[in-house]
Amino acid sequence: MHDTVIHGDAIAVAGALPRRCAQLVYLDPPFYSGKRRRNRKGGPEYDDRWPGGMTEYLAFLRGLLAAATPLLKPTGVIALHLDWRASHWGRLELERLLGVNNFVNEIIWAYRTGGGSKRFLGRKHDTIHVFAAGPRYVFHPATEKSRLAHRYGFKNVKIHDDGDGPYTLAAMRDVWEIAALRGNMREYAGYPTQKPLKLLERLVSCFTNPRGLVVDLCCGSGTALVAAQTLGRSYLGVDSSQAAVKLALRRLSHG
Ligand SMILES: C[S@@+](CC[C@H](N)C(=O)[O-])C[C@H]1O[C@@H](n2cnc3c(N)ncnc32)[C@H](O)[C@@H]1O
Repeated sequence: MHDTVIHGDAIAVAGALPRRCAQLVYLDPPFYSGKRRRNRKGGPEYDDRWPGGMTEYLAFLRGLLAAATPLLKPTGVIALHLDWRASHWGRLELERLLGVNNFVNEIIWAYRTGGGSKRFLGRKHDTIHVFAAGPRYVFHPATEKSRLAHRYGFKNVKIHDDGDGPYTLAAMRDVWEIAALRGNMREYAGYPTQKPLKLLERLVSCFTNPRGLVVDLCCGSGTALVAAQTLGRSYLGVDSSQAAVKLALRRLSHG
């Protein structure tokens, strides 16, 4: 069962999927924001309210991770995307399920959205915890531009120039500055909490091989699935919102 999007509960669907099928399980579940959002009039609604507070939320998160981790191939990784509200809980739970030694990365996705506070620094990053099923996980190292203040003093290093000045290609760090989606961007499909394609393309290309299966159990508008499709991977999405599934299928049909 792949290259499809299923309407259903993440935990129930994961329990019915074959064990050890996924190269990458990406999870971008509710963040415990306490909000209900609709980005466009008549557009899909997104409800992240938990009447039972953190106790109820953590029961959901623990159930989700317990259902998701058996889906990993021995070479697979899980990437759990949360923010300051619950990412620490998610990491602890992944350490408990997969072991501290299987920690791979804590990726910081930094962005600049509007809004701020007079009482604390702008909370402008999400955290993606990456854990592997075992030591032989798939990883394709990536590079990024490292800007140079000058050109002299470098030996055996290729110096590039893209018009904005000289740079070298350095091993990619775990801090990713990628613009958050705005309403006027072409790729924006109108889904509240929709993530940028560039973010998911980086994750998919680093942690999967061509044709490997990407599973997203809270797929929303299907960004991870679209990234997988674009990069020649298989995909399987699940969401409890019928509107999200419809939107994800629509985005995938354009690929
Ligand atoms: C943060 S959004 C995902 C956004 C997505 N990554 C995107 O780029 O569009 C979380 C999604 O989890 C879904 N969700 C919440 N509880 C769920 C559950 N129990 N089973 C499946 N999906 C669930 C919501 O409907 C929502 O679409």
